[in-house]
Amino acid sequence: MAFFPGSLGPMTAARPTYYWDYIEVDRLLGLQGGLDGDDSQLENEEVLFITVHQVFELWFKIVLRELIAIRNRFKAEILTNEDMIDVVTRLERCATILRVGNQHWEVMETLPPRAYLKFRSKLMPASGFQSAQLRQIEILLGLEESERIPFGTEGSHLAALRGQGGVETEASRRVAKQLEDLPSLKDAVAGWLERTPIGGAHHHASSHREFVEQYLAAHSRDLDANLAHAQTVASKGADGGRLKALYDRERQSVRDFLLPDDERLGRIRAAILFIETYPEEPLLTWPHRVLEGILGFEQLFVIFRQRHARMVERIIGRRTGTGGTAGVDYLDQTALKYRIFPELWAVRSMLINPQIAPALEGAAFFGLRAESGG
Ligand code: HEM
Repeated sequence: MAFFPGSLGPMTAARPTYYWDYIEVDRLLGLQGGLDGDDSQLENEEVLFITVHQVFELWFKIVLRELIAIRNRFKAEILTNEDMIDVVTRLERCATILRVGNQHWEVMETLPPRAYLKFRSKLMPASGFQSAQLRQIEILLGLEESERIPFGTEGSHLAALRGQGGVETEASRRVAKQLEDLPSLKDAVAGWLERTPIGGAHHHASSHREFVEQYLAAHSRDLDANLAHAQTVASKGADGGRLKALYDRERQSVRDFLLPDDERLGRIRAAILFIETYPEEPLLTWPHRVLEGILGFEQLFVIFRQRHARMVERIIGRRTGTGGTAGVDYLDQTALKYRIFPELWAVRSMLINPQIAPALEGAAFFGLRAESGG
């Protein structure tokens, strides 16, 4: 081994590196041959179909690695600024991959429906439904088996990864291993949120409740003002009562959400609301960016599912999928129902004008300012 001057680290002496070796171009280009392993025998449409799937699987690989790195940061008892900067950077990378990946569906849409039907029948029961990496991403994020959309009588989503007669496959083994890799990102983030010192340096077991009660009072005043305004501009007198009922229902649902029976859940929800309410405070700026990063990633993941469904509808309509689901109906349901971080979304409904938010308890702590008189 030889060392280049400076801090580049060890390099192998006198051995040139070639692009084709490092990137393994030949091996890569030999992987689009389909069932017979020979792409010269395939029409361009089928090679395109295989290639687009492979491109997505490669992106899934990167997203999976990044999500593991992000989850590992959350395992720390205290997240330092360095941890949070790393988390946000990686979340942005994942989001960018999904944003770019969402455009890959357009490439798939250049596949004319009848050209696809020429080779579709030989694919059964193959389907992206058997993508072990997508399942790994979902599991790592924290999607529970019980939350999955039932798709028929074939058994669980994991059973679909087994071979004929239920034998283990590389895909089923990968996913089984992922199931053991705990905690999920959802749980790790929840643990971090639960430790948020609402109330600052003097926070105690019920600080979050005190904050929530103050917040609810401000929220209620905000609702009253909005209701009064909505009633004033309502075109029909009868709308007044209807609007009041709507606003009252909203008031009650916000209260129920922020004061659940489960104390731990209450602390987590209060922490999200707290971070979202005072994001300009220096100690909360990075936590806020972390939450925004998670939300942004989840939003793109939902769009990814929706975009895939629209591409599928355009190419095969609403027929049964090769993987045995109801096809587009199933895919639309996953886009609608799979939310890993519903709390983050729910808090959006209860944010209020910053000018009427309750004064921040422990402002010196969160503003990194010295306590006066000390
Ligand atoms: C002509 C192109 C495509 C069609 C017609 C199509 C169709 C479908 C259908 C109908 C399903 C539902 C499961 C089933 O019953 O098969 C599905 C699932 C899936 N597809 Fe595609 N797909 C196409 C391309 C792709 C591509 C390029 C990818 C990229 C990897 C992909 C990834 C997935 C994934 C991950 C699922 C599982 C979704 C879930 O269970 O949440 N599909 N696809």
